[in-house]
Amino acid sequence: MSMDRRSFCGSALAASVAAAALAKEGRSEPHPHERPSGESKLFTPLTLRGVTLRNRIAMSPMCQYSSEDGFATDWHLAHYGARAVGGAGLLIAEATGVTPEGRITPNCLGIWKDEHIPGLKRMTDFVRAHGAVPGIQLAHAGVKASRRRPLDPRSNSFVDLEDGGWQPVGPTSTRYGRDGLAPQALTVDEIHAITGSFAAAAQRAVAAGFGVIELHFAHGYLGHSFLSPLMNTRSDEYGGSFENRTRFLIETVRAVRAALPEETPLLVRVSGTDWVEEGWTIDDSVAAAKRMKTEGVDLVDCSTGGATRNARIPVGPGYQVPFAEQIRREAEIPTGAVGMITEPAQAEAILAEGRADLILLGRQLLREPYWAQRAWQELQPDTPAPIAREYAWALAETRRR
Ligand SMILES: Cc1cc2nc3c(=O)[nH]c(=O)nc-3n(C[C@H](O)[C@H](O)[C@H](O)COP(=O)(O)O)c2cc1C
Repeated sequence: MSMDRRSFCGSALAASVAAAALAKEGRSEPHPHERPSGESKLFTPLTLRGVTLRNRIAMSPMCQYSSEDGFATDWHLAHYGARAVGGAGLLIAEATGVTPEGRITPNCLGIWKDEHIPGLKRMTDFVRAHGAVPGIQLAHAGVKASRRRPLDPRSNSFVDLEDGGWQPVGPTSTRYGRDGLAPQALTVDEIHAITGSFAAAAQRAVAAGFGVIELHFAHGYLGHSFLSPLMNTRSDEYGGSFENRTRFLIETVRAVRAALPEETPLLVRVSGTDWVEEGWTIDDSVAAAKRMKTEGVDLVDCSTGGATRNARIPVGPGYQVPFAEQIRREAEIPTGAVGMITEPAQAEAILAEGRADLILLGRQLLREPYWAQRAWQELQPDTPAPIAREYAWALAETRRR
């Protein structure tokens, strides 16, 4: 059987499942990659609320530092579009500032004004047209704000106020790095205003066509800086006890959940551990995940680190998977595993062993936008790897020749 024919054929059951899904979306023709498969866990769809991902492969949020004034560009269309064509199930767009001061650099993506919506919509429309679900990570950089982008020769240094930089803010006025402006400690009213900015950004994200919303509470940025006792030494109701340090998280989750349609899944990225004893721990993450679950969070995306430069992190293949596994088991909430997951068999084993529900790939999807196709070929060699229909006919022709 020729490749194009086989790639669009399926069993009677598969056909009826696909037809029902297509009818719901008002489409008549399936995308390749959508064929249900009983063989590989990686290619088993994942449903969170009203959204079904065609497989368990997600692109991890990765800053592109390619915006001016927060606007999406052709780069975003090409970058996310390529991974949608490449077959991932979910693409979580990079950390996107909920306020201008919430950007890490002047070139970060933003969603603090309605004018940002059309550019983002152009990208999400394309991603959806190729069968992937567009997601977005809503973020506030906190004490790590106003830095130069990595492409800049002076990368990682702070942008001064005179150079168009802005005042970083945080739970306290303690500097994160050695240089730059000391952050300003947020007042309670300012904390509430940022929570409101997250909720408004979530509404804009839905208007821009995003189907999954993730909140960034990892890597030492504003959300994580409230959680970690290394970064949060406040003495009011937002600091001190676990209850107080998680207040900003819970209030933000609550506000965003209330702003979202019932069917839109809400994910939260946490740093599962600070990797130092006196910091945020995996037990804290489990306890926070239990709270998040009751507040309507659908999946915890488990990264680590970022609160201190003094952490010794045992970086290696799958080194953060144990955090996804423990949170999943003890908080009984779906989790995403991320960090040096590069091989299909590795990803498959994480899922098959019940250690996570979703696999997030960062740098591997930069190297290999068509990783999902390779994974299909390696995990399900008996069926042809899916490919966008725009290419499928041409490759089938080549094969015949
Ligand atoms: C270029 C780049 C940009 C990143 N930007 C973000 C980001 O915006 N938000 C975030 O939570 N993590 C960010 N990360 C971390 C990745 O999402 C991911 O967690 C990390 O790279 C580990 O996964 P990997 O080993 O598959 O790359 C970034 C990583 C890279 C390489």
